[in-house]
Amino acid sequence: MNHLKQITLIISVILPVLIFASCSKDEQEENVDEVLLPIITSITPLQGQEGDPVTIKGANFSANTTQIKVDFNGVESDEISFSSIAQISTVVPKGATTGEISVTIVEQTVKGPIFTIEEEGTGVITPPVGQEKTPSNFKIAFFGDSNIGSAAKAVLNLVKSEGADAVVHPGDLNYAEIPVDFESHINEILGADYPYFFCVGNHDDEAWNGPNKYQSFLEERFKRLGISWKGQLGVTSSFYYKGIFFVISAPDEFGITSASAGNHIRKELAQDESVWRISFWHKNQRLMQVGGKSNEAGWNVYEESRKGGAIIATAHEHSYSRTHEMSNFQNQVISSTENTVNLWKDDASTSSLDEGRSFAFVSGLGGKSIRDAESGLDQNPWWADVYHSNNGGQHGALFGEFNYEGDTSLARFYFKDIDGTVRDEFFVRSNN
Ligand SMILES: [Fe+2]
Repeated sequence: MNHLKQITLIISVILPVLIFASCSKDEQEENVDEVLLPIITSITPLQGQEGDPVTIKGANFSANTTQIKVDFNGVESDEISFSSIAQISTVVPKGATTGEISVTIVEQTVKGPIFTIEEEGTGVITPPVGQEKTPSNFKIAFFGDSNIGSAAKAVLNLVKSEGADAVVHPGDLNYAEIPVDFESHINEILGADYPYFFCVGNHDDEAWNGPNKYQSFLEERFKRLGISWKGQLGVTSSFYYKGIFFVISAPDEFGITSASAGNHIRKELAQDESVWRISFWHKNQRLMQVGGKSNEAGWNVYEESRKGGAIIATAHEHSYSRTHEMSNFQNQVISSTENTVNLWKDDASTSSLDEGRSFAFVSGLGGKSIRDAESGLDQNPWWADVYHSNNGGQHGALFGEFNYEGDTSLARFYFKDIDGTVRDEFFVRSNN
């Protein structure tokens, strides 16, 4: 009996103590996890202006954005658009000055490198009003995914023979990531002073930053041409050329989210009053291409461009596809199937109405390869035209002639391949 009492005592008194001890040990471990100091391993970019997206990589962050505070030299950013244990996406806050970035997770603060606020003057772009008008039949060639082989050279020769005045290349330049080779490829055929505008693609990001990399070559070209720009050229930036406003974004590159890229597009288009605006980036949403690409760009970039009345130029998938006029990309709402596509800005004063209209295209037959249409995506009703390896696809470019025949709000577009065949032809009317 005595013996049994002893056992009962052990079970009733000592066991709960053991369980309690083991629980509190777990709790202690959790507490240890919570107080780990955050570590910053990289911040991209390290310079910029108010509203520019910034990606911080490291460890011991938090997936809960409310637990995170990012300060730019003591000024707290009011936007944490994404966070995980290893990454924080934020934007440069209003009033920030050059100085250390610090990250606080709960109450643990770590300081990072110096973030430089670009001074006014270096990043200010020239407003076009009354200064530079778009010439009649000003022609831009749009194509991406080029590489530098014989097909890419044939496309550049087509650009030249069509008399195009500029190129917009939405990414994937030289797949070997050797910028100097790509630069000579352009210069040999079009010249070092040719207005050749590109943005970063997923095959360009490892050779993007630094001396003799893609961005520095692009900056040097802009300087030679006397074009000023705002932001990180080819990544999150904007500029004017011949009275046309260009907005570059890079959703899903360098940790830039679609939300953050969309905010950039909205802000840039809101402060512009040009008739013609072109918004370009590299990647796609699955339903906005006809091949094997998945949802990478996010919808924000399409929707903000549409609401800003901007033409949407992408690449990434190696085929050509062009939508009808759309009143919503995310829900794939077609507003017209006429051969003249309208661009309309959303009127901010009519909060219940969304007047934004635009169209989007993938022009990815710049020379790298020609892919097929997959999963019946080419049959979707919003496509006005598709061109791929199943229907005789060939490398080529989409050409847009702005101020067509002197009509300042009209553009004529046509896709022409390197065999000289015109595969698509339509008009764009700007109501901006
Ligand atoms: Fe790509």
